[in-house]
Amino acid sequence: MRKVLVTGGAGFIGSHFIRHILTQHDGYEVVNLDKLTYAGNPDNLLDIEGGPLAKRYRFVKGDICDPELVGQLIGEVDAVVNFAAESHVDRSLLEPAPFIQTDVYGTYCLLSAVAEASGRIERVLHISTDEVYGEVPAPRRSKEDDPLHPRSPYSASKAGGDMQCIAFIEIHRLPVVIARPCNNIGPNQYPEKMAPLFISNALDDQPLPVYGDGRQVRDWLFVKDNCEALDLLLHGGARGEVYNVGAGNERPNMDVVEGILDLLGKPRSLIRFVEDRPGHDRRYALDFEKIRALGWSPRHDFAASLEKTVAWYVDNRQWWEKIKSGAFRAYYEKQYGARLASARSAPPANA
Ligand SMILES: NC(=O)c1ccc[n+]([C@@H]2O[C@H](COP(=O)([O-])OP(=O)(O)OC[C@H]3O[C@@H](n4cnc5c(N)ncnc54)[C@H](O)[C@@H]3O)[C@@H](O)[C@H]2O)c1
Repeated sequence: MRKVLVTGGAGFIGSHFIRHILTQHDGYEVVNLDKLTYAGNPDNLLDIEGGPLAKRYRFVKGDICDPELVGQLIGEVDAVVNFAAESHVDRSLLEPAPFIQTDVYGTYCLLSAVAEASGRIERVLHISTDEVYGEVPAPRRSKEDDPLHPRSPYSASKAGGDMQCIAFIEIHRLPVVIARPCNNIGPNQYPEKMAPLFISNALDDQPLPVYGDGRQVRDWLFVKDNCEALDLLLHGGARGEVYNVGAGNERPNMDVVEGILDLLGKPRSLIRFVEDRPGHDRRYALDFEKIRALGWSPRHDFAASLEKTVAWYVDNRQWWEKIKSGAFRAYYEKQYGARLASARSAPPANA
């Protein structure tokens, strides 16, 4: 494997993955196909574009739903890693159509182009999510062959992408591997997502709008650990297999909220409990023995992941201030304006 097409590489995880691949694999080249939606940020890869790795990196602005462009790029590479997606649950509740377009139809376009490349592509690594399993009551953990029960337009679209992969594996024998990571945390995450939103709000002494009672449980995976797992799956995952990528860092959201405030030395009085997201899954948890058996395990525990993440947002204020001063404001007002106006300083008693 020498040349990899990474889609969605200007986003959060994709940009870390591109840096990882270029630094860990001598001689590899990466083509980054990204539409630059609101979440795509060329600033995430400035160090690559302006540094010694630039000669092994090329950015192409474009859409994974454009069959002609995708076909042309597939013709240049020998592997594909598909990160491109609409990725925010709250936005999927406001406007689902782009999620179905990119996460389902876009995945189909990529797979069709790979099928037409007649066996030349060595590997397609499709990035799915733990959210496709839906919520799992404790103490259960989702296993790779569990049925999918997505409950939001985002997770339903991601599940649709997975189903396209499964159909192409069956019908065209494509060399696809599906990764299902849990919640990633780390530098460069667009500040609509919980951790960067709360860190940046706290740094500005703004309220932290916590959905419902804040007891929803997520497993928190440091983004660089995820990149190592995805690298392993790209090179060593078995064709047609699904791999969960968990961290063993299951925490209720309130642990993240309070951890952020404590690390920043900010008061708990910034916390506001707001009306919950409809259909908010209470808990995700992954069994990830299958990828552990390949030799991967996460290097960061919850405290280290949160600490490194908070430190990055403290040191890179200009990165998130640029985002939060733009169109983000209209989104924030739509999502949280009314919620904050009727917020409470304690969790609802009946939650
Ligand atoms: N962030 C997480 O915690 C997490 C967890 C599990 C799985 N995932 C999955 O990992 C992938 C990456 O997530 P992320 O958090 O980095 O997302 P992100 O929103 O930060 O980045 C998505 C990127 O995809 C690009 N994109 C969107 N539509 C496109 C299209 N039609 N064509 C080309 N590019 C397009 C965007 O411009 C952006 O750069 C997604 O598939 C997501 O579902 C994310």
